[in-house]
Amino acid sequence: MIRTFPDDFIWGVATSAYQIEGAWDEDGKGESIWDRFSHTAGNIEDGSTGDVACDHYHRWVEDVALMESLDIQSYRFSVSWSRVLPQGRGQVNQAGLDFYSRLVDGLLEAGIMPCLTLYHWDLPQALQDEGGWPARSTAEAFAEYADLMSRSLGDRVRFWITHNEPWVAAFVGYMEGRHAPGMQDENAALRASHNLMLSHGMAVPIIRANSPGAEVGITLNLSAAMPASPSAADYAAYRHFDGRLNRWFLDPLYGRRYPADMVASFAAQGWLSAEGMTFVQDGDLDVIAAHTDFLGVNYYFREVLRDESAEDNLPRTLFVAPESEWTEMGWEVYPNGLYELLSRLHLTYRPPKIYVTENGASYSDGPDSTGRIRDQRRLEYLRSHLEAAHRSIQSGVPLVGYYAWSLLDNFEWALGYEQRFGIVWVDYATQERTPKDSALWYRDVIGRNGFVP
Ligand code: FCB
Repeated sequence: MIRTFPDDFIWGVATSAYQIEGAWDEDGKGESIWDRFSHTAGNIEDGSTGDVACDHYHRWVEDVALMESLDIQSYRFSVSWSRVLPQGRGQVNQAGLDFYSRLVDGLLEAGIMPCLTLYHWDLPQALQDEGGWPARSTAEAFAEYADLMSRSLGDRVRFWITHNEPWVAAFVGYMEGRHAPGMQDENAALRASHNLMLSHGMAVPIIRANSPGAEVGITLNLSAAMPASPSAADYAAYRHFDGRLNRWFLDPLYGRRYPADMVASFAAQGWLSAEGMTFVQDGDLDVIAAHTDFLGVNYYFREVLRDESAEDNLPRTLFVAPESEWTEMGWEVYPNGLYELLSRLHLTYRPPKIYVTENGASYSDGPDSTGRIRDQRRLEYLRSHLEAAHRSIQSGVPLVGYYAWSLLDNFEWALGYEQRFGIVWVDYATQERTPKDSALWYRDVIGRNGFVP
């Protein structure tokens, strides 16, 4: 029996600028931290860069037609900040702005609702040179950028996401160093996380003023986290993980300030100066807690936390999936985590609406001798997560849309082109696009507004 979604449910696909656009230095674009990072030897696993990527900058007309042929209702893309403001602030690059304006017009003509993400990790290098996200001035520059974009496109774009996954931008970029700008400094990462959230809060009223009636929100990468056993040690490991990934961003966003247990833990680890959270100024928490219309949720897998070092630990009682149920990213396939996560968000934080802004799987299945791409495992991944999404709606979660990650195979950050998340295959030698079985299945889902389990 078909599982039908609410009539106005939105079916979309997502991408981001650096992962697909290419044209990294064309038509006046400035350098971004991802240009600099990928051009530095040793940072990207396969030695690749986003210089060309999917060449979407030149092929966007074809890509819009491709989405139209798949009956996609909404397209979530991001703007490359340094394409429109090469120095991060000040001088506008009209050619860059025109590119996004044409894209938005093309989408609207094709009947596809644009969903614009302002920041998907590609900070202008010029702003990094002035301190990057650990510097408060970057939040002020972001507000100027948000103003420019919403003044230019706010009449046509009705759906705005300030940031994509600030946890990754702050902690993977400034603490782990696996992402641009490749820094390893815990205190810098905490300052970055605050300034990212502050910049979100500063941008919300600006976008609302320039694009009256539009929906404005933020996308977080959230995980269903759980302890591997009922032991005190595993529970503490779970609380800490959940605190850093989920609560550190959700609590201030929903007016609960920073979680006290995490502030204490960061201080105890020496991640804060002796004076504590000095980077939080009076009024910042009110700015961050600006009312948003929705929460964007990126969900891929769960985290099972175990403190292996605790001597008195209990035996593990919670087991992760058998071998076959891991994607090529090494991420466990755990669809019920989406249900658990959405339920928790609804019960704890009560966002007025939720969109799943990313969900998908990396499998490298390519064309067979007939050219067909039988990516059955991706199709099953998407189906099982839609089942969880459907169940969430039935239990009262205000989930109003779903975006598959990703429209195209693309540049998967530090992992380069080896990981393929697309529902459409990209032959990087010819730039030819071929819908995989999952894309054709997704078109049927959209057509029926539901799926057959
Ligand atoms: C998310 C990112 C997205 C993509 C997917 C696989 O964390 O937002 O750009 O890399 O993971």
